[in-house]
Amino acid sequence: MFYNNHLWRYVSGIASFFMVIYFDCAFSFGTYALPIAILRQVLSFLFASLASCYFVLISKGSRVLTWLKDQWSPLKRDTIDKTGGRVTEGNTDAAFVEFQRVQKSYDGENLVVKDLNLAMPKGEFLTMLGPSGSGKTTCLMMLAGFETATHGEILLDGRPINNIPPHKRGIGMVFQNYALFPHMTVAENLSFPLEVRKMGKSEREEKVHRALDMVQMGAFGNRRPAQLSGGQQQRIALARALVFEPELVLMDEPLGALDKQLREHMQFEITRLAHELGITTVYVTHDQTEALTMSDRVAVFDDGRIQQLAPPDELYEAPENSFVAQFIGENNTLEGVVTAIRDDTCVVRLDDGSEIDATPVNVQEVGQRTKVSIRPERVEFNKDRLHADAHTLKAVVKEFIYMGDVFRFRMSVAGNDDFIVKTRNAPDAVRLSPGQEVEIGWLTRDCRALDA
Ligand SMILES: Nc1ncnc2c1ncn2[C@@H]1O[C@H](COP(=O)(O)OP(=O)(O)OP(=O)(O)O)[C@@H](O)[C@H]1O
Ligand SMILES: [Mg+2]
Repeated sequence: MFYNNHLWRYVSGIASFFMVIYFDCAFSFGTYALPIAILRQVLSFLFASLASCYFVLISKGSRVLTWLKDQWSPLKRDTIDKTGGRVTEGNTDAAFVEFQRVQKSYDGENLVVKDLNLAMPKGEFLTMLGPSGSGKTTCLMMLAGFETATHGEILLDGRPINNIPPHKRGIGMVFQNYALFPHMTVAENLSFPLEVRKMGKSEREEKVHRALDMVQMGAFGNRRPAQLSGGQQQRIALARALVFEPELVLMDEPLGALDKQLREHMQFEITRLAHELGITTVYVTHDQTEALTMSDRVAVFDDGRIQQLAPPDELYEAPENSFVAQFIGENNTLEGVVTAIRDDTCVVRLDDGSEIDATPVNVQEVGQRTKVSIRPERVEFNKDRLHADAHTLKAVVKEFIYMGDVFRFRMSVAGNDDFIVKTRNAPDAVRLSPGQEVEIGWLTRDCRALDA
């Protein structure tokens, strides 16, 4: 009570200000003792005020500090490179989630996330796709605040994530292992995030009811998680993440345990909800089709880095390196050496001596080795559909597979016995038989010369 008295605090502050000056003068001599003592006291007062302002700004996660830091940072926001992703050049205010040069090491030696740059606008549905151990869950955990970045900064709505208290982050999360509360019923699990947000009982019940219906689990409200199958638990985990309509949802393989039909239904429900409620979503999956069909953009991870970040069609049709070309969809690879480059075309001599035309993507000079990538459905064996001067290759049909809507041929091409060609089962489609020889070719733009 004594210290709560403001008047007393001011009086004691002013008294101590003058006492320090008095003692300073008492132990110094000379004409300027008094002015020097006053000056020293004023300077230390100013310094203390500046320091406390700085700490107040830090604790509030001030935009001013973030702005100041950006001015000095070598990583200017609009210089974030393409693999790291950029919202729109010069309009970085639109970034709702942002990873800036983030690195993560668990043991202090090996980086499991290496230099991650990523900027997501509000409302975006972004999928992280990549092999096991490539760092996807680690990125989600850092964004959720369960792990801290070893280097770099993660911003949520322009503020460093560690400056936002957990209950104000508005993040819903579906973990890879469901992580439901075992001692609570399904309905209590769903109600919990609403109680934390101090929502009234009737509103809570209504939202829990709606969320359970969404995941087709309306009849299971009174069961405990241990009384549910894996797929049912996964659906409850999903409902719990969405029940409080968070601004940001992080989902780590949320549909892994569901059968195909339910999975497709939930894919549709999740994207519909995310778009309707304007939820920003970071989704992790191993399933390429899921990634391509659900996402606004897909980030392909490998070895702790984003290899390419692009909308699904761009990722499939214009892979920027061999890893992405191999990882996304079915792909044919032919290896060789670049023998000529002219503007947007190059000629590649394959290892068996034959030549093909390609688009130079990440080859820079003649003599460089390259892996050429062609999608199976872009290969033509009808010469009329090719340019008159296009290079063609001899192919021998090894296998024909009838798949209903498409014909699939496995061919031997330039020493590659697993060259796949797909063609639509149209009225004029040609059925080739094993042993048959054909000339195949493609449009230059569909054949990409990538890193070797
Ligand atoms: N708590 C931890 N301590 C030490 N190493 C860890 C820890 N969590 C993850 N790792 C390691 O970090 C790397 C990235 O793991 P992470 O879980 O992020 O991969 P992921 O891409 O989610 O893989 P998956 O697709 O299998 O779930 C792996 O090599 C993993 O062994
Ligand atoms: Mg994982």
